[in-house]
Amino acid sequence: MTKIIDGKAISMQIKEEIKKEAASLKEQGKNVTLAVIQVGDNPASCVYVRNKKKGCEYIGIGSLSYELKEETTQEELLSLIRELNAREDVNGILVQLPLPAHIDEDTVIREIDPKKDVDGFHPQSVGALCIGQPGFVSCTPAGIIELLKRSGVSLEGKECVILGRSNIVGKPMARLLLAENGTVTVCHSRTSNMDEILQEAEIFVAAVGRPKFFHGSQFREGTVIIDVGIHRDENGICGDVDFESCQGIASYITPVPGGVGPMTIAMLLYNTLRAYEHQHGLSGGEKRA
Ligand code: GUN
Repeated sequence: MTKIIDGKAISMQIKEEIKKEAASLKEQGKNVTLAVIQVGDNPASCVYVRNKKKGCEYIGIGSLSYELKEETTQEELLSLIRELNAREDVNGILVQLPLPAHIDEDTVIREIDPKKDVDGFHPQSVGALCIGQPGFVSCTPAGIIELLKRSGVSLEGKECVILGRSNIVGKPMARLLLAENGTVTVCHSRTSNMDEILQEAEIFVAAVGRPKFFHGSQFREGTVIIDVGIHRDENGICGDVDFESCQGIASYITPVPGGVGPMTIAMLLYNTLRAYEHQHGLSGGEKRA
């Protein structure tokens, strides 16, 4: 029997935990704030940004919202980031991606103070993850590790296969699974023997950005399937994996919607609280995701 990993319920659990932490800080007169910047009005970004603000409200932390017009120059954006870096009342800074083509994403990400880099995209955060030092971890892969742990899935010594090598999901996912003592393979568009590799997977993470690209028949029995994809099709929303065909083959699977998606915001809120604590000397040197 395939068990469905309920990301909505697990993300709620995490949000309730963070809500308590935020309330306890508030009682001590400590206010946590996340600044969210969006440039232009990409429809998907509008939805994500709205949900991020709602998440802050739900757990009881402040959010500052900067909705900048599409024509905003790179220098204007960098200048806003510098201003937010300097503000003591701002604990986390998030620049929603993608940015308009005339703005260089890497330059923008590098400008964010690593102490406020709640997205975990700054090269310093990425480097820290690579060598197992404390730092912020990209929210989607961090959320996937939480989903697996809270579902009782052991990762130790497991064959973990990731499809996709993006900076936001695939690469940090590989590092996190490695840190959990998984044996990790990253496949991508140039991988020649993907079918053979898939047959070996005990833990499989799909992040290719193609609707229903994977079918149950490609997996061995008992695989744990994590679907990062999110696509709109004629029947509604679907993932990178054909969910129905995996029933009875996978031991666990995340649905789309309601699997990985809700975890991203929960981990962003988690990172924002860790940022506050770190900035105020309230935490030790432990991992911040
Ligand atoms: N665009 C798609 N996913 C993300 C994310 O996790 N963070 C930011 N800042 N932009 C995104």
